[in-house]
Amino acid sequence: MRFTGIIEIVFNKTISEDVKKEIEGLIEYLNRDYLKRGARDPREAAHINSYTFKDSGIVLEIETGSKVRIDEATLRVKNVLSTSLGSKYRIGVRGVNLHNPIITLDNKISISLKIPLIKSIASDGDHTIIELVELDESDLKKPLFLRLLRLIEDKEQRARWGGKSEHWVLIKRSGKKTVEASMGDPNDVLERIGWMKRMSVGQWLYTPPLTHMLNTLKRLFIDEVVKPLGFEEATFPKMYPLEVGLKTGHLKGVINSMIFASLPRSYDISEFEEFIDLMYVLNEAPPEELQRHLRPSSYFLCFAQCEPFYWFFENEILDDSSLPIKWYDQSGPSYRWESGGIHGIERLIEFHRIEVVWLGRPDDVIKIRNELLERYEYFMDKVLDIEWRMAWVTPWFYEQSGALQGLKESTIEIDKPGTIDFEAWLPYRGDRDDSKNWIEVGNISIHGTKFTEPFRIKHNRGETLWTGCSGFGSERWFIVLLAQKGLNIDNWPKKYIEYIKAIPFPRSIDTITYPRTKDGKELLAKIINLLKQ
Ligand code: SER
Ligand code: ZN
Repeated sequence: MRFTGIIEIVFNKTISEDVKKEIEGLIEYLNRDYLKRGARDPREAAHINSYTFKDSGIVLEIETGSKVRIDEATLRVKNVLSTSLGSKYRIGVRGVNLHNPIITLDNKISISLKIPLIKSIASDGDHTIIELVELDESDLKKPLFLRLLRLIEDKEQRARWGGKSEHWVLIKRSGKKTVEASMGDPNDVLERIGWMKRMSVGQWLYTPPLTHMLNTLKRLFIDEVVKPLGFEEATFPKMYPLEVGLKTGHLKGVINSMIFASLPRSYDISEFEEFIDLMYVLNEAPPEELQRHLRPSSYFLCFAQCEPFYWFFENEILDDSSLPIKWYDQSGPSYRWESGGIHGIERLIEFHRIEVVWLGRPDDVIKIRNELLERYEYFMDKVLDIEWRMAWVTPWFYEQSGALQGLKESTIEIDKPGTIDFEAWLPYRGDRDDSKNWIEVGNISIHGTKFTEPFRIKHNRGETLWTGCSGFGSERWFIVLLAQKGLNIDNWPKKYIEYIKAIPFPRSIDTITYPRTKDGKELLAKIINLLKQ
């Protein structure tokens, strides 16, 4: 990324030959020293290529890299001239303007012309040339300008990384386990025996027996992992105002997979009369007609499930007596719009998760992450006895916020912000050596200040605060359990059976028409028999 522009500095009086000499010296100093500070590679710093004097001013052609950017460089030039000439010659700077600022990128990006400050965008071969409007000193310091540069930087980085931004490095894996894969795809079995029914794409109803089994697994996780570490249950909302998504970054990063909610245009039912009449006669509810009675969406549905945690502490000042804060939420579903590749309950539009969240000083946040890691490992190995692996991956909070800032390639720096994914093998899909036969069941992250900064969560003595979160995808863990343990209860984890038995097993639905097929009914009877033992 290169910047060029023409700095015009206007003085409050005409300048003499002596002053010009002085300025020449200052420019030499700027080029040699001050404009190079803060960049190891001088090309990433700034350089004045040429200059011409006017009666009471000077015009300088400047070129910069991205470490000492043109905005910073312009202000440095102005400050050096105004300080030196002010004290020695009583000459003041009346104004600074940056004419013809141009940003040149080494790759092709597209950017909206509607953005303020952008004058034109052109592309020549592999370059993008963005011309900005003329900027004065106050423009250069405005957050709007700085955010525009950040946007361009992000876009450039994304174009450079292309598909490479996804990384995955194995950290650890369990030993090989004997699995009981004869049942095939557990989703097919669950659907055939009528324990679950698909309402719409990626959305299912789980009948009491399946709910019982899912909840048992969740309870086991909470009792074995979450509670022993001192996390307490909270209840988070599941529909969030847009501002929350702007701060977490979700609106910028994953707007294409978020689901939005709208309020009615009016509370007065008479305003809906036309639409109601239409439904009477058509016996249909045309979505386009409905839309006319709705306000624009002002909410998005729960996406990461930890958003409300950061929102809750927004602008709060915490002291050591309340830190670290350790909560979890399991009060409702999360929503992700997926456009295809949906199968069974491993990939859902409405899914259930236990979201574990914590907030504290960096050391504590790392320590809690480590304790959780240990408990997770114990849970997978000793409690469930499944075949698992964990990997250092692209942090979800960068991926979901569309910003690649801070992202490094493939290096594991375990105590820096990052995400560890837990994955488990789905034997019915095929060989354990092929990654496509594994599924992500959960993750655990430390975010650094990714959320404490935008939500301005502060410590009373100004110490840095970090957050962390971990998601346990209930449906996915359950599918893995069935996929590796099969339907024969003798193979199930002891603890799980103990928990299942503690509460009477609910009755399956068995009506004339449901489960749908004869074969499904027979399978259901067989499974009930197995469970009864
Ligand atoms: N909030 C994290 C995520 O969205 C963990 O559940 O992946
Ligand atoms: Zn989270």
